[in-house]
Amino acid sequence: MRSTVVTLLSFSCGLVHGQGTPDFWQPGGPDDFRGPCPMMNTLANHGYLPHNGRNITKDVVISAMGGALNFDAALASLMFDQAIHINPEPNATWFTLDQLNVHGILEHDASLSRSDAFFGNNHVFNQTVFDETRRFWTSSVLDPNQLANSKIARQISSKAFNPTYTFTSSTEQFSLGEVAAPVIAFGDVFTGAVNRDLVEYFFVHERLPTELGWSRKTSVVTLNDILRVKDMIHNATSLITEAPPGCPASKRRDLHSGGRLYQRRA
Ligand code: HEM
Repeated sequence: MRSTVVTLLSFSCGLVHGQGTPDFWQPGGPDDFRGPCPMMNTLANHGYLPHNGRNITKDVVISAMGGALNFDAALASLMFDQAIHINPEPNATWFTLDQLNVHGILEHDASLSRSDAFFGNNHVFNQTVFDETRRFWTSSVLDPNQLANSKIARQISSKAFNPTYTFTSSTEQFSLGEVAAPVIAFGDVFTGAVNRDLVEYFFVHERLPTELGWSRKTSVVTLNDILRVKDMIHNATSLITEAPPGCPASKRRDLHSGGRLYQRRA
C-alpha cells in the first residue's frame, strides 16, 4: 500500500511531458493550474501535459496530442501557434493552463460546460450549464445535428440572459472547432457520430474514457479531419429546412412580411 502511494506521488510530482499514459490519472491539486479546455485539463490529469499545468511548450503539445490522441505533429503545432499569444510575455515559447482563462481572448461566452464570465467562474466544469447542453443530446449516439443544437441552445441562453454576451465571427470558428472536438477525439470523423457516454464521461471527469472501452485512434488525426467535422457541425446549425415533398407549405405565400403587398405598391 505504502509503496503504491509513494510510486503515485513520485510519478505525479516528477512527471515530465511524454510520460503520460491512459492508466495514470490524477486530477489537478491546489497548486496545479487548470483551465477552460476539458481536453487540455484531461491531458494534464493523465500526465501527457505537465501535471502542474505550467510550461506548455510546442514540443510538449506535439508529444501530448500525438501520444494521447494520435494527432499529427503539424496539427498539434498549428494549435499551439494559435494559442501561444495567450501568454502576454513578448516572444513567449510556453503558456500555462490558467492563462487560457482570460475572458475574451480564447475563452468565450456560451461554452458547453462552463459558465459565462459574467455569471462567475468561466473555467471550472459547471454541471448546470452542462445539463443544459446535454438536454439536446437526445440519443446514445450523438450526431452533428445534436451537437449543433446544443451549441445554438447555449448561445441563445447566453444571449437572452447575459447582458454582456459577446460572440464574434472568430469566436464562431473557435466554437465550431470545440463542438467538433469530441467527435475528433472519440468518434467517427467521416460520419460525425460519437458515443454520448464517452463524451459525457470526458467532460465530467476530465479523463480519457478508456474504462468505457475507448482507445486512441489507430489512424493519424489531421487538420482535414477537423475541417470536415467542423463543416458538418456548421451545416447542421441552420434552422431552415426543406418542406417535405407534397407538403402544402411549398405553396405558402409571404403572408406575414407583407413582401407581396410591398411589390404591388412599388
Ligand atoms: C493547444 C491546444 C488547445 C488549446 C490551447 C485549447 C484551448 C481551449 C480553450 C481556451 C477553450 C475554452 C473556450 C470556451 O470558452 O468555451 C477550449 C474549449 C474546448 N476545447 Fe480546447 N484547446 C486545445 C486543444 C483541444 C483539443 C485537442 C481538444 C479535443 C480534441 C479540445 C477540446 C475542447 C472542447 C470540447 C472545448 C469546449 C468546452 C466547452 O464548451 O465547455 N481542445 N479549448
